[in-house]
Amino acid sequence: MGKGFFISKAVGIAAIIVGAGALATIIALSVVYSQEKAKNNDNVLPTDGGTTSKPPVTTTAPSNEPWDKYRLPKSLVPDHYNVTLWPRLKQNLTTGLFIFTGQSTVEFVCAEETDLILIHSNKLNYTKRENNHLASLTSLGGVKAPSIKSSWLQQVTQYLVLQLDGKLMKDHRYHLHTDFTGELADDLGGFYRSEYMEDGVKKVVATTQMQPTDARKAFPCFDEPAMKAIFHITLIHDLGTVALSNGEEKESSNVNIEGHDVQKTVFQPTEKMSTYLLAFIVSDFSFINNTIDGVLIRIFARTPAIAAGQGDYALNKTGPILKFFEKYYNSSYPLPKSDQIALPDFNAGAMENWGLITYRETALLYDETFSSNSNKQRIATIIAHELAHMWFGNLVTLRWWNDLWLNEGFASYVEYLGAHEAEPEWNVKDLIVLSDVHRVFAVDALASSHPLSSKEEDIQKPAQISELFDAISYSKVTSLTQNNKLISLFSLQTYLAEFAFGNAGYTDLWSHLQMAVDATGTDIPETVSNIMNTWVLQMGFPVVTVNTSTGIISQKHFLLDPDSEVTTPSIYNYEWIVPIKWMKTETIQHPKWLKNESVSGSDWVLANINVVGYYRVNYDQGNWERLLGVLSTNHVAIPVINRAQLVDDAFNLARAKIISTVLALRTTKYLNKEREYMPWESAVGNLDFFYLMFDRSEVYGPMQDYLRNQVTPLFTHYKSLTDNWKNVPVGHMDQYNQVNAISLACRTGLRECQNLTNQWFNQWMETKLNPIHPNLRSTVYCNAIAAGGAKEWEFAWSQFKNASIAIEADKLRYALACTKQPWLLNRYLEYTLDPNMIRKQDATSTIVYIANNVIGQSLAWDFVRARWSYIFTQYGGGSFSFSNLVNGVTERFSTEYELQQLKQFKEDNAEVGFGSGTLAVDQSIERTIANIKWIAENKQNVLDWFKAEEKP
Ligand SMILES: *[C@@H]1O[C@H](CO)[C@@H](O)[C@H](O)[C@H]1NC(C)=O
Ligand SMILES: *[C@@H]1O[C@H](CO)[C@@H](O)[C@H](O)[C@H]1NC(C)=O
Ligand SMILES: *[C@@H]1O[C@H](CO)[C@@H](O)[C@H](O)[C@H]1NC(C)=O
Ligand SMILES: *[C@@H]1O[C@H](CO)[C@@H](O)[C@H](O)[C@H]1NC(C)=O
Ligand SMILES: *[C@@H]1O[C@H](CO)[C@@H](O)[C@H](O)[C@H]1NC(C)=O
Ligand SMILES: [Zn+2]
Repeated sequence: MGKGFFISKAVGIAAIIVGAGALATIIALSVVYSQEKAKNNDNVLPTDGGTTSKPPVTTTAPSNEPWDKYRLPKSLVPDHYNVTLWPRLKQNLTTGLFIFTGQSTVEFVCAEETDLILIHSNKLNYTKRENNHLASLTSLGGVKAPSIKSSWLQQVTQYLVLQLDGKLMKDHRYHLHTDFTGELADDLGGFYRSEYMEDGVKKVVATTQMQPTDARKAFPCFDEPAMKAIFHITLIHDLGTVALSNGEEKESSNVNIEGHDVQKTVFQPTEKMSTYLLAFIVSDFSFINNTIDGVLIRIFARTPAIAAGQGDYALNKTGPILKFFEKYYNSSYPLPKSDQIALPDFNAGAMENWGLITYRETALLYDETFSSNSNKQRIATIIAHELAHMWFGNLVTLRWWNDLWLNEGFASYVEYLGAHEAEPEWNVKDLIVLSDVHRVFAVDALASSHPLSSKEEDIQKPAQISELFDAISYSKVTSLTQNNKLISLFSLQTYLAEFAFGNAGYTDLWSHLQMAVDATGTDIPETVSNIMNTWVLQMGFPVVTVNTSTGIISQKHFLLDPDSEVTTPSIYNYEWIVPIKWMKTETIQHPKWLKNESVSGSDWVLANINVVGYYRVNYDQGNWERLLGVLSTNHVAIPVINRAQLVDDAFNLARAKIISTVLALRTTKYLNKEREYMPWESAVGNLDFFYLMFDRSEVYGPMQDYLRNQVTPLFTHYKSLTDNWKNVPVGHMDQYNQVNAISLACRTGLRECQNLTNQWFNQWMETKLNPIHPNLRSTVYCNAIAAGGAKEWEFAWSQFKNASIAIEADKLRYALACTKQPWLLNRYLEYTLDPNMIRKQDATSTIVYIANNVIGQSLAWDFVRARWSYIFTQYGGGSFSFSNLVNGVTERFSTEYELQQLKQFKEDNAEVGFGSGTLAVDQSIERTIANIKWIAENKQNVLDWFKAEEKP
C-alpha cells in the first residue's frame, strides 16, 4: 500500500517536485477524514471513578510466593456470588465507627488443579468459621472438598489466602463461604459513607465506588476485570430507607435480624459482569422515573433536590441518549433498568456501574436558576459518557487495566455524539479541540509522557492502576478518533457482538476495524494496526512542518522543552503515520491518499483543517506572514476552529523554540476584531501561561495594557448584544464567550467591568436577591471577592455553606480562592483539610484554586509541603487526586529557587511517597526547568513587544 502516506522524519516525505517559478508542489497525503470539531467545558475532573489514590504500597522482601504477586493465578474462575451486606448508618458510640457486616458465598470452577485459594480482600475483618479459619469450603457434585490447612490475610497484595491440605480438582465446582465486617468510612472508596444535612438533621448514605480495585473492600472477590461473574445481591437496611444495586429489586420484606427490625431487599441477579462495576447504595433519597421501550429510567437524589425539580433535566435527556446509543451500537440496552444517582460525596465526576450510575451532584442535578450553560453541558456530556460505557466497557470489558485508555478514550469520544443528540443546537462536537485535543497536547508534549498502551506486566499494583486515569487515557483517543472514518459503526457493532459479556483488548478492536475496511474496500495505505500502532504504542505526537518555499513536508516529535531528554525508546522511532487535510487560500482540499498541489507565492496554505488530526503544524516564515495577513484583513477566510488552532500552535511552537515568541504574540493582534468563542478561548488559555510566568514581574503592567485594549471591543460587543447586560446571548458559544469577555476585561483592569461586577455583588449582599445570571456567576463572584475584603468573603462563605444546590456551592468555593488577602487565603487553606468545612472530594481542587491566585501560590505550596505526610495518610485512602494537586501547586514555578524547593520536596518525602502523584512530581520538575529557561530567553522580547504595542 502507498508508502507516501508516511512522512519520514529524516527527509520529509515524498519527494517534492519544485514547480516552475514561485510555485512549489506539495505532496500531501491524507485520509479523507470527515469532520467534526472542538469545545470547552469546566470539566477538570476525570469523568468516572478511578482517581482514587492509594497509600504507598510498601513492597516486602521479594518473594515468589503466589500471594506476593499482585495478579491472581489462573487456577480458579468465579461463576456467581451470593452476597448479603448490611451497612449501619448509625455510628457505634463505643467504637466510634460506622460499619457494615456481610456474608458471601462464591461458587467457582477449578480450571487448574491447586491447593491454594487466593481471593482479593482489603480492610475486611473475618468472623472465624470451622476450625478457626477465616472461611469455609464446600464442594459440589458429591466429592469432598479438601480441608483448610491455614488461612490468613495478606495485606500488601490484598488477599485472603487459604492453603488446603489437598488439591481442588480440575473442572469441579466449589463454594467458599465468608462472614465479615468492614468499616463504612468516609474515604470515598469501596463501600463508604456520604453525609449531608437536611432540615437541620445529619443524614448518612452508604454507597460504593469500586473502580478500579475497591470491590475487595466491600466483600472478598476475584477483583480483576476479566473475572466476570453473576452477582446475587441482598441488602439489609433500616425501615423506610431505599436500597439500590445493579439489578432490579426483586422482593423487599420486613425482617427481624439479631433483634433489629429491618428491611431486606433482594435484587435480581446481574448479568455476567466485572466486579469494578458493582454498586450498592442505601439512602433516604427520592426519585423520579419514566420508561422508554420497557426500560425503567430513574433519577435519585436528596429529597429536596428531587422536589425542586433538579433531576428533571437528567430524566428528560437519559431516554433519548439511551435510544441513540442503542442505534449507534446496533445493540439493545442490555438491562431492564437504568438508575442514576447524585451523591453529596463522590470522588470522580461519575461512575458507570452497570445499571446504577453514580454522579457528583454537580454532574447530574440541574436547576435553571443556578446552573450555567456550561454546567448544563457538563451534565449532558457526562450522562452520555456513562451511558456509552453501558456497552463499551460494561458489556464488553477490557481484559486488564493496561487497556483502560480504550475504554475511557472511546467513551470520551462518543459522549460528544450522545450530547449532540440531546442538544443538537449546541454544536458540542466543535468543542473537542478545546477540551480534549488541547488538554492532552499539553501533557503529551512532555518527555515524561507515556504511550496510551502500557504493557500488562507494568501495571500491577493498585497505585499503578490508579495512575492510568489521566488526561492521556481520557482525551488522546478522542483526539485520534474524532472524524476518523476508521472507527466505523459496522466494526464497532461486530466487535460488541463478538465480545458481549466477555473481555477484549485493543488488538481485537483493530481486527474488527480491519474487517470493516476490507469489507467496504476503504482505501487506506497501511493496515489499521500499522496506522494506529504508531499513535498508541509510542507517546507523544508530531509537529508537521509545511514548507511552502521548498514544498517539503516533514515531521518531528513535538516536545514542549526541546532540550528535555526522551528516555523511553520507541519502535517507531517517534515517527507517525499522519493524515493531512489542508486548504489552499480559500478552497478546502479533499485530497485522496496522494495528491500534488501547487502553491503560488501569494497563496497561503493551511493544514489540519478543523483539527481532525492529532498533530501540530508549523510553516515557513513566508506562509506564517501570509496567514497573519489573512487574520488581520479577512480572518473569516480561515475556518473558526483553525483560527483557534493557529493561536494554539503558534504559542506552543514558541514554547518549544520552533518559532519566536513574538510571532506567537502576533497571532493575538487580530483578536480585537474576533467575536467567536473558540479563538478567544484558545488565546485566553495560552495567555494564562504568560500570566503564570509574568504576573510577578515587570512584564505584567504592559501585558495588562495590551490585553485590555484587545478585549475592550469584545466587552463592548456583549454589552450592546445583551442590551447593557440585561439579556442572555442566544447561542451556546456566545454565552461562553460573554464569560471570556467579562473575565478578561475585569482581569486586565477595565474599570467599567470591575464596576459592573462589584455593583452586582453588592446588590446581592444588600438585597439578598442574587441578580447575577448563572452563566456569569463564577467570574463575577471571583472578581468581586478579589476586589473586596473580609465582608465580601464572609458573605460568600455563608452563601456557600447554605447553598441548596452543589452547582452554586462550587461557584462560590472557586471564587473564595480569589481574595487578595493572605490571611483569608491561609484560613481557607486550613478549611480544605477539615471535612466539616470543605468536603473531602473538594479538597484537592480548592487547594489548586488557591494556588492559581498569584497571592495564594506560595501560601498553598508552603501548606502542601508542610502537610504532605498528613495529607497522604489522611486522604490517601481514595479522596485525593495527588497528581492534580502536585501539578496545580507547582504550575507557576519558574525560578531556580522554586526548582530547588521542588527537588527538596521530592527528596524529603521519598519515604512517605507520592502515590498517584508520582509521575506528576517528575512532570513538575521538568516543567519548572523548562519555565526557567523560557523566561530567561523570552522575558526581554516579550516586555519590549508589549511596550511597543501599547504605543498608539
Ligand atoms: C458497638 O461495638 C461494640 C464493640 O464491637 C459492640 O459490642 C456493640 O454491640 C456495638 N453497639 C451497637 C449499638 O451496635
Ligand atoms: C445463590 O442464590 C441462588 C438463588 O437463591 C441459588 O440458586 C444459588 O444456589 C446460590 N448459590 C450459592 C453459591 O449459594
Ligand atoms: C478490624 O480489626 C481491627 C484490628 O482488630 C480493628 O482495629 C478494626 O476496628 C476492625 N474493623 C472493624 C470494621 O471492625
Ligand atoms: C414511576 O414510579 C411509580 C412509583 O413506583 C410507578 O407507579 C409508576 O408506574 C412509574 N412510572 C413509570 C413511567 O415507570
Ligand atoms: C423536561 O421535559 C418536560 C416535558 O417536555 C418539560 O416541560 C421540562 O421543562 C423539561 N425540564 C428540563 C429541566 O429540561
Ligand atoms: Zn468513562
